[in-house]
Order: sequence, then C-alpha cells, then structure tokens
Amino acid sequence: MKRLHQFLREQQTSPELIELIDTLLVACKEIAYLLKQGALAGILGSAGAENVQGETQKKLDVLSNDLLKRNLLSCSLVKGLASEEEDFPVAGNPDGKYLVTFDPLDGSSNIDVNVSVGTIFSILRAPEGCDGGDESAFLQSGRRQVAAGYVLYGPSNLLVLSTGKGTHIFTLANTGDFFLTREYVQIPTETKEFAINMSNQRFWEPAMQNYVNDLLQGEEGPLSKRYNMRWIASMVAEVHRILTRGGIFMYPFDYREPKKPGKLRLMYEGNPMSLLVEQAGGLSTNAHRNIMDVEPQGIHERVAVILGSKHEVENALTYHQPEAAKG
Ligand code: AHG
Ligand code: MN
Ligand code: MN
Repeated sequence: MKRLHQFLREQQTSPELIELIDTLLVACKEIAYLLKQGALAGILGSAGAENVQGETQKKLDVLSNDLLKRNLLSCSLVKGLASEEEDFPVAGNPDGKYLVTFDPLDGSSNIDVNVSVGTIFSILRAPEGCDGGDESAFLQSGRRQVAAGYVLYGPSNLLVLSTGKGTHIFTLANTGDFFLTREYVQIPTETKEFAINMSNQRFWEPAMQNYVNDLLQGEEGPLSKRYNMRWIASMVAEVHRILTRGGIFMYPFDYREPKKPGKLRLMYEGNPMSLLVEQAGGLSTNAHRNIMDVEPQGIHERVAVILGSKHEVENALTYHQPEAAKG
C-alpha cells in the first residue's frame, strides 16, 4: 500500500507543501489520540467559554485549536493562521509561504455522544508583502486554495485530501502512517439521499422549502424518486458519506437569528469542502454561485451550502434560479 508521502511526491507536490500537510497531520494525530481516550483523558464536556461566533466551546474545541496552532506556528512555512476558535488571525513566520485556515473540531456537538467528528483545513498562498496576522491576507476565494482536506475521527481515522489533482482518501494505521485507500474519488451524479436539518424548515427561504417539499413527496412528486434522509450534524461525516456513496447536503440560510443568516463558515468549512467535492466530480453552491467563486469579506463569514451529487445539486438550483434553469 502507498504511503501519503509517496503518493504526494508522485503527484509532483512540492516538498514544502508536503511538509506543511505533515505538520497539520501531527496535530490531527494527537487529536485522534485524545478522542480515543475520551472520558479517560478528562476531555469531554464544555470549556465554559464562547467563541467569536457566540457558540459554547467544548474542551476539545479548545484543545484541538491549541494543538493545531502550536504545531503550525512552529513550522517556518506558515505565515499566518485563522481558526473558527480564534477571534482574529494569528501571525506566524514573516517569511512563511502559506496561510492556513481551519475548523479544529467540526461536529463538536457529537463529541460527548461518541459520534464522528473531524478537523477541516484549507491552505492558501500568502500574498507577497502581506502581514500574516492581517485578515485581508486571508480574503482569497476558494479557487485559490493550494490544498484542502479533512481528518475524520470515526471508526477509522481518515484523511481526505486534494491539492487540486483529484480527491483522495488515506487511512491512519497504528504505526502513525496514512496509507492511500481510495484515489480519484468520484461522487455518483445521481442520488436518492438528502441531508438537511429539517427542524429549521419554517425559517428557510421559499425556494428551499419548495425543493425539500418535493424531495419529501418522493415518487409521487415532480422529482419522481423515493428519497431517504440522513442528518449526523457533523459536516465532515456528511461530506464523507457523499464522497463514498453520493447524496446532497444542505445547510441553507435561514431566518432563525437575523444576525446569523447561515451556520457554516466560508473560509474553513465551505471552501475546503467545496474543493474536495468539485475535485470528485460533484457540485458545491450557495444557491447563487459556486462557493469557491465567492469573494470573502471576512474570515468568519457565513455561507449557505448545497453540495454533493451533480444532478441533485442541479435539481436544487432549478428552484433557486428558475430563470437560469429555463435558459
Ligand atoms: P462546529 O461543530 O464546527 O460548530 O460545526 C458544526 C456544523 C456542521 O458540522 C454541521 O453540519 C452543523 O453544524 C450541524 O448543525 P445543527 O446543530 O444546526 O444541526
Ligand atoms: Mn464546523
Ligand atoms: Mn468547530
């Protein structure tokens, strides 16, 4: 079986990018170890604080953030980092080449119930002459990602990675090495499975309500198919299912809290997942444009997300862009 390093070298990945990915993975392996210990390591439960998004932080949100931050800041390639759990970007080596954004622990409401969670990351090139602690350096569209991926902490610990040359899956062995277990993943274009938090239905925009109503009508509705539904509440686990057997995942804008018109964040959830999905032949949109074409205005910017099997995402888009669909 092929090790991650060998595979990346064969893909002509630069030694520097390989080193940076390695640095990220050192932290992820430590997170995986902590998660495995669970209650034995005293790491479950709340940290008693809120992050910049006003969400309660779990102990493991904080621990994972600290591990990633410490490892990345010790790597001379890192000019700056931005995290879900940091109010502001953090400057690294002024001569560093890369900026890293990450969601240290995604799906953290699932930690205490022993359900899969993950770390999501996105790597950008640091613009010439920028300050790595300055938000403006990070405000680059998802198209400019050099690499993106996630580590899924579940029954197996997996790395899913793209450097823009396909999306590939690696499995963590007991030796601490990641081995290539699936290359050039292709998401099936058709699906009968959707994922959305139905409890927010009454707060969605009419287009989304109409689409989901039609999904629920199954073979008796205009989509003429009986659909099944899943909701894990860990985006990493949902995206992983979609990369494995297809599906559509949606976290649309809603009117629950007018100041937070969506839950997921563009720079460390929407963009990296979109690169993985597009590189696997899927689609990822905010209902108006491809997510990676959105020009970010802030590191914690929120984004509506509809991603997955190409034809099903296109179905969803016809409800949002009826004119474009006719055209
Ligand atoms: P995080 O734990 O990093 O805050 O992200 C959780 C996200 C995402 O993983 C998941 O799809 C969604 O929030 C779940 O939201 P609900 O609790 O609203 O279902
Ligand atoms: Mn998240
Ligand atoms: Mn998180």
